[in-house]
Amino acid sequence: MPDLFSHTPVVLSEMLDYLQPEDGETILDCTFGGGGYTQAILTRAHCFVWAIDRDPDAITRGLTFAKNLQQKEGERRLHMLYGCFSTLQTLIQSAYAPPLFDGIVMDLGISSFQIDDPQRGFSFKHDGPLDMRMDKNGLTAEDLINTAHEKDLADILYYYGEERYARRIARAIVTERVKTPFRTTFQLADLVRRIVPRNSSILDTATRTFQGIRIAVNDELGEIERGLEQALNHLAPSGRLVVVSFHSLEDRIVKRVMAQATKKTQNSLSLYTLSKANPLQLQSSYSDSFILLTSKVIRPCKSERVKNPRARSARLRALVKGCISYDSITHNKTL
Ligand SMILES: C[S@@+](CC[C@H](N)C(=O)[O-])C[C@H]1O[C@@H](n2cnc3c(N)ncnc32)[C@H](O)[C@@H]1O
Repeated sequence: MPDLFSHTPVVLSEMLDYLQPEDGETILDCTFGGGGYTQAILTRAHCFVWAIDRDPDAITRGLTFAKNLQQKEGERRLHMLYGCFSTLQTLIQSAYAPPLFDGIVMDLGISSFQIDDPQRGFSFKHDGPLDMRMDKNGLTAEDLINTAHEKDLADILYYYGEERYARRIARAIVTERVKTPFRTTFQLADLVRRIVPRNSSILDTATRTFQGIRIAVNDELGEIERGLEQALNHLAPSGRLVVVSFHSLEDRIVKRVMAQATKKTQNSLSLYTLSKANPLQLQSSYSDSFILLTSKVIRPCKSERVKNPRARSARLRALVKGCISYDSITHNKTL
């Protein structure tokens, strides 16, 4: 595919500050996209990156980038893995990738390559087929919109799109599709704009509907939930996990999963202090300890928000996997 589009990486320097890639380390980029993060990581340190994407176009870009880099440096520093990050374990096993990583990064959502290509059907700004599948596999947005029950459509728009007018939009879709099935992004956007009243917000009134349908088509929230769990399992001791999300539904999951992981650590610590439990048992429960690096969510700086409107809603959270040995517990009980 010709490179008609490009993607400007968001909160790039903040991501590097938390990921802290070092020479010789192995890093996993779960969302290669346009390769902006991967490229910056490989430039920051002489490390090795394994990169995942569920979009075959992103994999094609990555393979070309990896080949050029190898030719230039005479060494393979980037490996591409095609699939969903929720299946991380299977992906790394089948590619003989290392089981543990010194850093893992996830930059959620879709890339500009995807949103700016009318043929992918993600945007209400371009007319194109109602597709919206990141991986070009399975049910399309068109299938969903033309076949789902009215109540299911309304729930998708309400919960995933956070759209107040979900029930009205779902009713109108179901009435309209009997006469004319939905085929294009403009058809859907026009219908939504007729129903949702304009307010003072700069957002197009079709924004929330498109967000809801996209999340449903790609099971994005389920992916994040399962992907984070996998990422925690594949962090090496002292490994950092950095996640960048773009709306409150995503961020809520990231915040909860990170809080749960770090809370378990605090509970184990107090258990030790209170009961002086069996050291061997302690050692195994401590091997999975995590410390939050971002007590508050990190937002892009003002200049980035001005330069890149897509960055405005970005939120970054990070944690580190503790590397507690039995010695460090018994001697100073610190992580
Ligand atoms: C925001 S872009 C990443 C941009 C990238 N950090 C850069 O700097 O170019 C998100 C990418 O993640 C991919 N993606 C989203 N969800 C995924 C999932 N569950 N598994 C694998 N890839 C996913 C999308 O296809 C898209 O290419």
